[in-house]
Amino acid sequence: MKRIAVLTSGGDAPGMNAAIRAIVRKGIYDGLEVYGINYGYAGMVAGDIHRLTVDDVGDTISRGGTILYSARYPEFKDLEGQKKGIEQLKKFGIEGLIVIGGDGSYRGGAALTKLGFPTIGIPGTIDNDIVGTEYTLGFDTAINTVLDSVDKIRDTATSHVRTFIIEVMGRNAGDIALWAGIGSGAESIVIPEIDFRMEEVVKEIRAGRERGKKHTIIMLAEGVMQGTEFAEKLKEYDNFHTRVTVLGHVQRGGSPSARDRVLGSLFGYNAVQLLEEGKGGLCVGIVGSELAYSDISETLNTKRDVPYLSLYQINKEISF
Ligand code: F6P
Repeated sequence: MKRIAVLTSGGDAPGMNAAIRAIVRKGIYDGLEVYGINYGYAGMVAGDIHRLTVDDVGDTISRGGTILYSARYPEFKDLEGQKKGIEQLKKFGIEGLIVIGGDGSYRGGAALTKLGFPTIGIPGTIDNDIVGTEYTLGFDTAINTVLDSVDKIRDTATSHVRTFIIEVMGRNAGDIALWAGIGSGAESIVIPEIDFRMEEVVKEIRAGRERGKKHTIIMLAEGVMQGTEFAEKLKEYDNFHTRVTVLGHVQRGGSPSARDRVLGSLFGYNAVQLLEEGKGGLCVGIVGSELAYSDISETLNTKRDVPYLSLYQINKEISF
């Protein structure tokens, strides 16, 4: 293999640049030509492809976002788009592809591999909702961003003796709420993976107040419901002086944490090695501190078990 390409697709995530940098540098170190595809699969189909040099990825490891831009491109599920994409890659003599993104990106990668174009997936999403890895790129930075915000919110919550519902991202997954919840000492964590009862949340708020706590933090995953809806339901029980904060896209930005930079470098490096070994249809991940490989199609057909779901019960027992 002489030429490989990389793209980022779906929601951006801190650490994507570290992975791109590793791919470019490792590829060039090994004598390959490395190409960047702008705007994910949309750019691939449009032929928005350019060669990357060692310098192009200089000073990027500390930057959030993705220097290759990203896009959601549902049209890529059509065979026609996939064939057009491969045609564009072939025009540049590209023989292998690395996609960095979430399950939508993996679906594209699996389809390309099935059509005979070797593709490797790198899990990149703040949601942490990918099978085959315990941590995705961007998750660690995102939860640290949430913690920074909650630390600030707690100041004002205490001053006014208020209850804050913090709505965090994660799409259908509760990982961000779970980790940021336990990390911020939230009195309640509400995630899609575990049924909740409002009576239980009310009990948790009251227990804190009875102990003299001046603030209450409820960490709510967006996959359960919106923060405003949750506040309405809570109001039916009592007036807890509730305020809602929707952290939104602030969770997707910012300089990647040390962990995301290291993971990005590790994933990028190993993805290149897999292509060099003539492998496709695989994705890289981290399981039990070890690098892991999985079949992309299998990951897409496997129900995900949330890693460390036991944190939910731990939080109940230590954050009352
Ligand atoms: O998948 C990443 C994510 O940030 C989710 O947590 C969120 O639900 C979604 O993307 C938001 O998508 P968009 O940026 O397209 O509004």
